[in-house]
Amino acid sequence: HAADHVRIVEVGPRDGLQNEKSTIPLDTKLELIRRLAQTGVTHMEAGSFVPAKWVPQMASTAEILEKILTDPPPAPHGIAYNYLVPNIRGMESLVKIFQTQNAQNPTGLPTPPPSPSLRPESSTTSSNPDELSTSGTSPSTTSTGESTSTSASTSNSTEISLFAAATETFSQKNTNCSIAESLSRCRPIIDLAKQHSIRVRGYVSVALGCPYEGPDVDPHKVAEITASLLEMGCDEVSVADTTGMGTAPRTLKLLETLKDAGILNEDLALHFHDTYGMALVNTVVGLEHGVRVFDSSVGGLGGCPYSKGATGNVATEDLLHLLHSLGCETGVDLVKMAEIGEWITQKLGRKNDSRAGKAVLAR
Ligand code: HMG
Ligand code: MG
Repeated sequence: HAADHVRIVEVGPRDGLQNEKSTIPLDTKLELIRRLAQTGVTHMEAGSFVPAKWVPQMASTAEILEKILTDPPPAPHGIAYNYLVPNIRGMESLVKIFQTQNAQNPTGLPTPPPSPSLRPESSTTSSNPDELSTSGTSPSTTSTGESTSTSASTSNSTEISLFAAATETFSQKNTNCSIAESLSRCRPIIDLAKQHSIRVRGYVSVALGCPYEGPDVDPHKVAEITASLLEMGCDEVSVADTTGMGTAPRTLKLLETLKDAGILNEDLALHFHDTYGMALVNTVVGLEHGVRVFDSSVGGLGGCPYSKGATGNVATEDLLHLLHSLGCETGVDLVKMAEIGEWITQKLGRKNDSRAGKAVLAR
């Protein structure tokens, strides 16, 4: 994979923190985001517009969005900040802040060329130049948006993520509705996002195992939901191993099923939780298959409130170490990331779950 660019989506401030029991001060969250912005990451989840009674830890998301829009963290280049949105109400809250601050910065770049994907062409109005650089198996050279501006903050953008699940039970537990209902909720959210040139990610949870229905989740169901999300206008779908039950053979089978369903690697991301220690193995399977976007969390923070026992996402430090060892280019500084992993896990009184992070700091 020499010279391949791999995009890391840092999900620590959202997936990493959402399950923490004690309230994390807003300043700590903002400090985490500020530090992460300096590592070279181009994509970061910053919060979730969910009801506080469902996920109390994300209650400060409105303040986080406001702060990022008005006083963006210094960064070497523009960053796409992403917020989870479970329903139209969450999207309206986001848009209200977004409009008030009037801070979305269109880059003025031409719309990316239409790809022969399932996405409707009208949905390719990504305002993020980095999107041009992630394409299937071909090595890419463009990187992080320096072409748009020399000023870091002016090329930031705002994105949202929608979520659906591959099993009915998980859908009910996580979103209090059926799979079909969760998909139908997505359409008006996507429409509103497109009106504001907000890029949309979709998630398919429990793609490789469900805490309620077990490991044998039907890959065809995952493909069907992924295709629906893309057809509705999602710019990318992150296929998630929520429980960490995924194995290399089942990851491969899933990727082959997605391919057979006409889903392109360039429309995909992979989101591995590392509960069984399989995340990096499954990442290699994804890379071999041609996927070039991976989600991870600094210090391996995280867990899903609706997936008991599920541990954090794969640690960003470990993912970086793997990718760099394979000759992949990420633009992200492993040592800086490791320092943040150590800082935030200490701050939260948690164990640092990144092996590479600890090793790098011990050198
Ligand atoms: P519901 O209870 O059916 O919703 O939840 P509702 O419409 O009946 O509303 C209930 C209450 O919440 C009402 O208030 C609403 O006004 C309010 P009340 O009358 O009780 O005072 N409300 C809101 N408040 C603020 N913001 C909103 C909002 N919407 C309603 N947006 C709902 C349905 C989908 C909202 C709920 O099930 C939910 O929020 N689920 C999200 C749970 C969640 O955040 N899970 C974790 C994130 S997903 C994840 O981690 C997986 C991922 O990492 C990938 C992977 O690893 O699998 C992405
Ligand atoms: Mg997750």
